[in-house]
Amino acid sequence: MREAGRLAAECLDVVAELIRPGLTTAEIDRAVDEVTRAAGAESAPYLYVNHGTPPFPGHCCTSVNDVVCHGIPDDQRVLRDGDIVNVDVTPRLNGWHGDSSRTFLVGDVAPKARQLVRDTRHALWLGIRAVRPGGHIGDIGHAIQGFAEAQGYAVVREFTGHGVGREFHTSPSVLHYGVPGTGLPIRPGMTFTIEPMINLGHWKTDVLDDGWTAVTVDGSLSAQFEHTLYVGETGVEVLTLGKDETPPV
Ligand code: MF3
Ligand code: CO
Ligand code: CO
Repeated sequence: MREAGRLAAECLDVVAELIRPGLTTAEIDRAVDEVTRAAGAESAPYLYVNHGTPPFPGHCCTSVNDVVCHGIPDDQRVLRDGDIVNVDVTPRLNGWHGDSSRTFLVGDVAPKARQLVRDTRHALWLGIRAVRPGGHIGDIGHAIQGFAEAQGYAVVREFTGHGVGREFHTSPSVLHYGVPGTGLPIRPGMTFTIEPMINLGHWKTDVLDDGWTAVTVDGSLSAQFEHTLYVGETGVEVLTLGKDETPPV
């Protein structure tokens, strides 16, 4: 899983170098596919089905502006100056998954949107710091929700973090809101994601007719960051850390 996590981070490090106005989300998809294949891995999202959805038609998710998650890469979707775009990758390497996403700024982004992106990354790290063996899954959501709502944002409810390993999505569900001391106990050996989606407006989402693309009901901006974590005996290890990534203070 460490190797799969490292590859997920490498995919996003490559995408980070490509992001610019004029790039299409399909070009992002091709880059992710190439880096993944070159490492001898495959993209778990490709043709993935979940509870009656159509097969996912991309190698990663590309979610622009009011798209909350599960945006489908598209050669018609050109990134424009001022957009924000989340890229979510999940390589499967030797049968193990690494799941991670970042929201990137495209060109010159408005201060409010930039702040949302920065705060969403901060929210993820508050969630990570709430993880400790002997704690509870509810500690994570509580930390994220407390911070996000205090800044005036809303936390998406319909999508959650999840156990990950040989399977892409497994228990536990890791809610990004909640009550400390509740939920499953956190035990050494667990591997799961935290992936808060934070909106400028209402938390509610709709899924488009393509069966995948989730958007905010009010058209407000949404940002997301995701890491895959391993809980060791003494603390948490982030398996999908980027090459230049330093945790926010
Ligand atoms: N990577 C997403 C997650 O964080 C799931 C994407 S499923 C897909 O859980 F089919 F849309 F790719
Ligand atoms: Co995930
Ligand atoms: Co993901």
